[in-house]
Amino acid sequence: MSKTGRLLAYQAAAHHIAQIDTTIVNHSKLRAAHEGLDECIAWSEANREPAGAVLVGEGGMGKTTICNAILRRYPPSIKKTASVEVSIVPAFYASVPSPSSIKSLAAELLKRLGAPRPGAGTASSLTERLIVLLKIAETKIILLDEFQHLLADSKVGDARSNNVCDWIKTLINNTGVTICLVGTPACEALVNSDLQLAGRFARRFRLYPLNIGTSEERGELERFLIAIVEKFKERLGFLTTLDFSDHSNSVRVWAATSGNPRFVMRLLKEAAVLAWAAGRKNLTIGDLAEAYAKGITQSASKFNGNPFVVTYEALSNALRDSKLKM
Ligand SMILES: Nc1ncnc2c1ncn2[C@@H]1O[C@H](COP(=O)(O)OP(=O)(O)O)[C@@H](O)[C@H]1O
Ligand SMILES: [Mg+2]
Repeated sequence: MSKTGRLLAYQAAAHHIAQIDTTIVNHSKLRAAHEGLDECIAWSEANREPAGAVLVGEGGMGKTTICNAILRRYPPSIKKTASVEVSIVPAFYASVPSPSSIKSLAAELLKRLGAPRPGAGTASSLTERLIVLLKIAETKIILLDEFQHLLADSKVGDARSNNVCDWIKTLINNTGVTICLVGTPACEALVNSDLQLAGRFARRFRLYPLNIGTSEERGELERFLIAIVEKFKERLGFLTTLDFSDHSNSVRVWAATSGNPRFVMRLLKEAAVLAWAAGRKNLTIGDLAEAYAKGITQSASKFNGNPFVVTYEALSNALRDSKLKM
């Protein structure tokens, strides 16, 4: 095949495989966060002081994916009364702007609520509008992602982050809405640095890399991989895939990605694109080896070499030390 032909085949395959992006694997941490946030909402509806939560994890652990899964559960709707139509937004997602100020955060929340001209006005007029709109929209939960941006230009306990944190407390008190702060593990230190904030955001959900388990007891990574390749068959038309109930195959993926879901998905998708571009509907270990060789998971790799070409014995010997550290 010519160079252009290869690129065209790769391009078409990349589009096909990207359809898998809407798939969310309902793993145990995701379920725990789901159930916990449902409880926070129920608590906030019943009590004067709402219950907030914190969801933390390093990049790629699936925080934003969990937010998306929760949003799917609380879709917006239109409420028709005799004279007007009101937008009901039970849940919405917003990111803390960087650099952040009360005004930029209030404007971002207004924008996500669908308010017209969200940035027009002073910080306090935007806040007033926001409080009114949250009530009209019957908002139950705000997922406030990238909370670490508050730390990007200031230290924990610094005036700027203190001001924004105080503003969040006031917003909660005035609206009764549940807020889930989402971000990197450093966010927890920011929340904990203020006793009032720590008390209002008492529920904590922490995401870690998917664990490898043992050959006797299946780990989270193995279950994740099995769920994804099942979707490759259901949604993408693959006929056969690598068998991840064979523990050695999951160990190879773990060695390549450290169990970080972003790297796991990147690797599997790249391998699937390579197979599809070659006109095959079977995903093999050779495809994973070729995908890995592109270096896409290099920064997360635990193994000095290609874990998809060495013997399992050589790989497990090399990994023994890092496995003990898991
Ligand atoms: N539960 C999941 N199901 C399917 N894919 C996931 C899941 N969690 C993470 N991923 C994959 O990892 C990528 C990064 O996840 P993301 O939620 O953006 O991480 P974070 O927000 O923690 O940085 C996603 O785009 C997706 O490909
Ligand atoms: Mg994210």
